[in-house]
Parts: sequence; C-alpha cells; structure tokens
Amino acid sequence: MIDKKAFITGAAKGLGRATAVALSASGYKTILTDIDPVTLAETKKIIEDAGGSASTYLLDVSDKKQIESVLIQAIKDEKKIDAFINNAGIGGVMAPFHEMKDEDWDNVIAVNLSSVFYCLKYQLKILLDQGGGNIVNVASLAGKKGVPLGCHYSASKHGVIGLTKTAAVEYGSRNIRVNAICPSFIETDIIEAVPKPLLEFVANFRVPLKRLGRPEEVANAIKFMLSDDSSYMNGHSLVLDGGMDAG
Ligand code: NAI
Repeated sequence: MIDKKAFITGAAKGLGRATAVALSASGYKTILTDIDPVTLAETKKIIEDAGGSASTYLLDVSDKKQIESVLIQAIKDEKKIDAFINNAGIGGVMAPFHEMKDEDWDNVIAVNLSSVFYCLKYQLKILLDQGGGNIVNVASLAGKKGVPLGCHYSASKHGVIGLTKTAAVEYGSRNIRVNAICPSFIETDIIEAVPKPLLEFVANFRVPLKRLGRPEEVANAIKFMLSDDSSYMNGHSLVLDGGMDAG
C-alpha cells in the first residue's frame, strides 16, 4: 500500500470522486475539495466507509484567493502533499461564437483554465519546498480538437494542455512531473447537457469500443500517471477515448 496524500479539486462527484476512491483504495490519504458541501461529504463518507481516510475543504476554483488560502491551510494541516489532481470543471452554456455570451465565456475560462494556473502556481511552490511530487490536470479530448458550440470549453482545455507542458518543462529538473489526461465522453453529470441521440451516435459509430467511458477508467489512468510505473512520463496529454480519435 502507498502511504501518500493526494489533493483533488472537484472531488464531490464524477471523475473527481472516482479518482479519490481509487487513490484511497491504493493507500492514499485524500484531501477532497469542491464547491458543493453536500456531495463532498458523501465522497468523504464513501471513502471512510471503505476504510480510507479523507479530509475536506470547501473550494470554489474560480476564486484565486480561495485557491491560495485553501492550499496554504491544507499544507499546514497535512505537512506534506505528494499529488495534486486539478479536476474541477464545467461544460458551460453551448453556443456558436457569434451568440456566445461574454459571461458564459468568462465563466468557463475562470473555472476550467484560470483555476488551473492558480492551482499550479501554489501547488508547484509546495512541491518545490518538499523536493518533488506529481500533478495531473484533467483536460479533455476537446483540448486537442475544435468543439462545435463549445469554443470556450475547447479553448479552456487547450489552455490546460499548454499550462501542463510549460509546467513540465519548467519543473522537470526539480523532481516534479506534470501531466494531463484527455478523456472523451465519460458517463458523469457533465454530459447530461449533451443531446442523448448525439451520445448514442458517438458510442455506436465513433468509438471503436462501442460505449462511453466510465469514471473508474479515468481514475485508474490518473492513478497510473501518479505512480512510479509512469516515472518517465512528463508533459504528456494522455488521451482516453476508447479509440475514438484513432479513426
Ligand atoms: P461533474 O459535473 O460530474 O463533476 C464536476 C465537479 O466539479 C463537481 O463536483 C462540481 O461541484 C465541481 N465544480 C464545478 N464548478 C466548480 C468550481 N467553481 N469550484 C470547485 N468545484 C467545482 O463532471 P466530471 O465529468 O466529473 O468533470 C470533471 C472534469 O473532467 C472536468 O474538468 C471536465 O471538463 C473533465 N472532463 C469530463 C469529461 C466527461 O465526459 N465526463 C470528458 C473530458 C473531460
């Protein structure tokens, strides 16, 4: 079993919860953060009921002051944090460029992209002080492709990959690895906004494995990216899409 600590944003449900559960099962203490206190407490209970250990902090990642203060508090409480998973994100209101509302653009960029910059800014300082560690940013296949009606989402995830690569080249020599994961459609609440017929088309005709992904499959990939089994992986954006992008 691993005796390490992992800090996760957006850990109340979906991919964040699945990642927290998977890391806890392999021996990590999990430091869970989210904007939603009710579902955050549920994730903590799931982990504790399974014999794991978790602490929680309320954190709205669109607020840079909160990011700074929660990270300062978390490292004070935990003394050492080995891994950070910057996962919190939103889909945003879909619209073509010429009808995209400024506030919808600003909101998606704040929650999905600026948040990752501010998280990295303070997390990398912590890892420098500790002498090393590991970060996984949750980007998307949309960070490698255009998304019809989703210019804000696609731009934010392209930006996350850029931040990941830059952090990897700046900090690799300091025993810090930074990678991104790029899932396609995974069965969580975020895809509820996607029309059902489109999801069925994707599963049946675009994904060679003939199904959407499961949160546990993303969690297992993140667990691998944080482990020593991926010790030479740095600055990478790992696509997890059932083969969708291969054809
Ligand atoms: P989800 O909607 O199930 O969970 C998102 C979590 O983030 C929730 O717990 C929510 O409360 C939290 N959150 C939202 N805004 C927040 C904020 N301002 N501050 C802190 N927490 C906030 O969605 P899912 O699928 O688990 O998404 C997680 C990440 O995975 C996101 O970054 C998303 O863009 C990315 N992703 C998801 C894919 C999918 O198909 N499910 C595909 C590719 C990427």
